[in-house]
Amino acid sequence: MEENKSFLTQEIDLKSPNRNIVPITTSIGNDGKLYIGGCSIEELIKKYDSPLYILDEITLRKSCRAYKEALEKYYPGKSLPIYASKANSSLFMSNLVSSEGLGLDAVSEGELLTALKGGVPNEKIVFHGNNKSDKEIEFAVRNNIQVILDNDYDLERLEKISNTFNRNLEIMIRFTPGIECHTHEYIRTGSFDSKFGFGIDYLNTLFDRIKNAKNLSLRGLHAHIGSQIFELDPHKDLGEIMVNVILNAKKFGHDIKKLNLGGGLGIKYTENDDPPSIDEWVKTISTSVVKACKKYNLDLPTLMCEPGRSIVSTAGITIYTIGAFKEIPGIRTYLSVDGGMSDNPRPITYQSNYSACLVSNPLNINSKNTYTIAGKHCESGDVLFKEIELADCKSGDLICVFGTGAYNISMSSNYNRIPRPAAVLVCNGESEIIQKRESPLDLLNYDVLPNRFIKQN
Ligand SMILES: Cc1ncc(COP(=O)(O)O)c(C=O)c1O
Repeated sequence: MEENKSFLTQEIDLKSPNRNIVPITTSIGNDGKLYIGGCSIEELIKKYDSPLYILDEITLRKSCRAYKEALEKYYPGKSLPIYASKANSSLFMSNLVSSEGLGLDAVSEGELLTALKGGVPNEKIVFHGNNKSDKEIEFAVRNNIQVILDNDYDLERLEKISNTFNRNLEIMIRFTPGIECHTHEYIRTGSFDSKFGFGIDYLNTLFDRIKNAKNLSLRGLHAHIGSQIFELDPHKDLGEIMVNVILNAKKFGHDIKKLNLGGGLGIKYTENDDPPSIDEWVKTISTSVVKACKKYNLDLPTLMCEPGRSIVSTAGITIYTIGAFKEIPGIRTYLSVDGGMSDNPRPITYQSNYSACLVSNPLNINSKNTYTIAGKHCESGDVLFKEIELADCKSGDLICVFGTGAYNISMSSNYNRIPRPAAVLVCNGESEIIQKRESPLDLLNYDVLPNRFIKQN
């Protein structure tokens, strides 16, 4: 029997889950099949059906703790890691990150509500967005949630609302520091040409304007330079730039007490990826801010960061059931699964790569076939893997895709009226639903047939 080298045999980094392809509780049972969180994947599918999102609690908690511990080590007593909930927003995620002492960032009333109902204290939530609605701003202000201003339109409305409520509002501003990152251009947000944040050249004018706003106090700066970043230098530079902006704001009488350096630390989706550890990343931002503050004799601000992907991605997997095969001789063999771009839009949107294995043969023993794994949607581009080596498999077998905890369920859709999969939490051999499976009937809940049309029928 030939054994292929599999990513599943690689040593697991227990301290920094973002450096592993698989959740840290991944194991191969006595039956030779895949287990996560002590649960047999085959049994989970029998119980919850397919496709299925699975989150591993231990990996999630390790990631949160890695941020907390590193910040305490390199920036003691004055930090707040906040979870970027766009990566995966739910009552469960809000509750879990909050139980680990993290705050949360939200970009819509839906994410804000989910955070509050999930138990995140309002003083640990920040509200972002390049086009907040009036209703969303009012919701945030009424709930004492810190708003991060993105543009002049935000400023006008915050000024108005602070005067209407006759309340002094502490605000933060987001600016674009002009740092380029070697990442996919659709998720590059820190360069000058970005829809997010105030341009750095505009800041003096902005500081002046805020100074003249009766009920606004500028207390914090924010920048986020991109996502899935493997280099440390951009964040080192960002720390220095932000401290320089504190100095500049001081000249206008603003006392900046918080620096939020955004998220962006990458994760290992495939064997080609080699992201820094959470500890290294936090050390980089902390050291950079401490050094620059020392240089200018400034008090240390509260240091915030906003990791999303590196908190939740590696904890998540998606299980699909194989259906149809289509062999095109001399070209390729398509293997189709029961999900695709509606539960994971990243491959079609960003050409993202993942790692996967068969649940019944995780080590890919006797792998000898190259397949293209296609989703079930009416879109030729709905392909999850362009080429993957797998052992013999057949319709009905299960495939596990790793690293799907972030930007999968939160970016999912009902394209082709396909119901969203359920999501399950696993821990110590137990499993519990954290998001119910949608049914085709659920999808009709928001459809309305106008009266006139009902009569005609
Ligand atoms: C403002 C902001 N903060 C944080 C994040 C989280 O980034 P990541 O998931 O790469 O850590 C994002 C993601 O795009 C973002 O736009």
